[in-house]
Amino acid sequence: MEITELRRLVVGIDTQVPVRDGRRIPYTNFDNAASTPAIKPVIEEVQNFLPWYASVHRGDGYKSQVSTALYDRAHAIIGDFFHYDPAHHLVVLGKNATEALNKAAYRIPIPNGKAVLTTLMEHHSNDLPWRYRAPVRFAPLTPDGELDLDAVEKMLRSGAISLLTVCGASNVTGIINPLKKLAELAHIHGALFVVDAAQLAPHAPLYLSRADNNWNGPDLIAISGHKLYAPFGTGALIGPKDLFRYGIPEYLGGGTVVSVSTRDVVFAEPPEREEAGSPNVLGALALAAALKWLKEQGMDNLYQQEHKLTAYTYRQLQEIPGCTVYGPPPEKVPRVGVLTFNLDGLPHGLVAAALSHEAGIGVRHGCFCARPYVHHLLGLTAEDHRRLAADVQHRRFDRLPGMVRASFGFYNTYEEVDYFIAALKYLTESRTQLLKEYVVDPQSGHYQFKPQFRSNASSIAVK
Ligand code: ALA
Repeated sequence: MEITELRRLVVGIDTQVPVRDGRRIPYTNFDNAASTPAIKPVIEEVQNFLPWYASVHRGDGYKSQVSTALYDRAHAIIGDFFHYDPAHHLVVLGKNATEALNKAAYRIPIPNGKAVLTTLMEHHSNDLPWRYRAPVRFAPLTPDGELDLDAVEKMLRSGAISLLTVCGASNVTGIINPLKKLAELAHIHGALFVVDAAQLAPHAPLYLSRADNNWNGPDLIAISGHKLYAPFGTGALIGPKDLFRYGIPEYLGGGTVVSVSTRDVVFAEPPEREEAGSPNVLGALALAAALKWLKEQGMDNLYQQEHKLTAYTYRQLQEIPGCTVYGPPPEKVPRVGVLTFNLDGLPHGLVAAALSHEAGIGVRHGCFCARPYVHHLLGLTAEDHRRLAADVQHRRFDRLPGMVRASFGFYNTYEEVDYFIAALKYLTESRTQLLKEYVVDPQSGHYQFKPQFRSNASSIAVK
């Protein structure tokens, strides 16, 4: 499909947003790593289903039967996208990847004397849930933010690790981890391999481990619908059924049991026992519809297109005077379309605010819920850490370390990148003026232009 056709499928692609000089201009959405917009095939699926909406796994009426059948089928479509083996794997639906990773950490027993190996490049959602369940080790990184594979191998070889967990792709640098190699290492050393696929799944093909075809990959993956063009509150954990046959789920209640007396509880088979309460059938159908559509496009195609756009943007960013781009170039290390940078002399919060107010461009700034990784990439010193700790203690958020992040979806274009680069050049050239015109709130860290500078003819007028 041509890019113009693809863009037509994105809900809100033509939405105009206000900028500082009072005009409304088309929004440039470069914040897809946080959440992607909905696509029309997803909305159509939801709308077509709504007249049939009824309770799932709980009613005998015709609509309940339809809703139940579609909800169950959604599990299969979602699993199929990742080449699951229905005889061996299960798909547990929940809110998002964070909930899925919390479930994995809660439900997978770590034997006494063993530890979880995670990495220093994780989103907090693939770090914090493990910390409170088992001893955790952190695999180190190279200076430019790649996983140190030799160190991972060494830590696995020690025999102390029963579970290795990594992000499929980083939400900070977009670096794609070598999952096949990591799966081989984990499996050789008897460790389970869990992948936080929230950032990888929307951009590149990903297949679960399958013993029946000798494919070495993740044993479990976690995904979020709101990063997969299906913002209806559903994510999934997909992994071996056997891990969920025993033990007590973290949430209990309706739908998780087949029998209850005051003395005994007999749990339902997974996934029901893992999906307490009335399920989000709309979210499940939306996610299944999004994955069906992505599969039709071909994840390889989408990856190739986005790789070119990412490499182009990386080069353009490097050419801006005073711009530091983090992580290795995509030609050297495969990356999804996530690029972080800083502009000399301009706080990251100000850059993000000015991109929005001056040019209608949406990005994210800060540490992206991956503080250890961002601190590593920024090369914070012991003194920086001391000052940061003091600022946090005093709830002072106007000088926290961080970066600016631009992140792509399948629908972003070279024209949008050129506009973004023009906007960044304008910000660099207008540094003194911007520092005068914007003010930061120390309690929130948010920048806003001072009201007296509301209308400014120098606002970017590229669009
Ligand atoms: N994890 C999402 C991000 O990186 C929310 O923005």
